[in-house]
Amino acid sequence: MSSVPVIAIDGPGGAGKGTIAKAVARQLGWHLLDSGALYRLVALTAMRHGVAWDDAQGLAALARNLDVRFDFDAVAGGILMSNEDVSELIRDAECSRGASFVAALPAVRGALIQRQRDFQAAPGLVADGRDMGSVVFPGAALKIFLTATIEERALRRYKQLKDKGMDANLRDLSSELEERDRRDREREIAPLKPGPDSRLLDTTGLSISDVVQTVLSWVAEAYPANP
Ligand code: DC
Repeated sequence: MSSVPVIAIDGPGGAGKGTIAKAVARQLGWHLLDSGALYRLVALTAMRHGVAWDDAQGLAALARNLDVRFDFDAVAGGILMSNEDVSELIRDAECSRGASFVAALPAVRGALIQRQRDFQAAPGLVADGRDMGSVVFPGAALKIFLTATIEERALRRYKQLKDKGMDANLRDLSSELEERDRRDREREIAPLKPGPDSRLLDTTGLSISDVVQTVLSWVAEAYPANP
């Protein structure tokens, strides 16, 4: 297993993993893996090609052949599929729902494992998802389970959408999040749950910079030579 340091950040949707992972990666000058985006891209491609949510082999083939490029330094977006910026598209409700279906299929998860591990490159990697610590990077010396109350998570998502001038309904967002969390928690493969070796961080009521500071202090403990 590679000795390149990894920070694995897992947790439910809307807990702030993406925002925190990006900020921490920037501060440290490390690489970033948004693993959820890969499942979302499979869902988007499936919808475009008319592949059904229960066609495990068809979906796994799409996962193996994803032509994706991440450019996190881009001012906006930064997720390119076959050179098309799909950063916004993959966040919509349909793709979010589809992603939680395709993510429950072992064939799809298997098809994406090596692609995720390839992100582990010097000087280090910050990876966010549901199984970063448990399955993809079990050797990570720092594993964090980031969470927040359902009310706070729905409210954050609501503000995000409103800021973008999009339509949003708090109650719908809350039930969508709950439905997705339930699917992520109850699936048989790589279910969402804090591992025995992960540190819990409840971000309810905390600012982004509070959370980033806490994570950086843990990085200094886990990887003393690096930050
Ligand atoms: O983090 P996100 O909301 O972008 O993830 C989209 C979906 O993919 C969500 O239903 C959980 C799933 N997922 C997963 O099963 N494993 C990961 N490592 C990342 C995301």
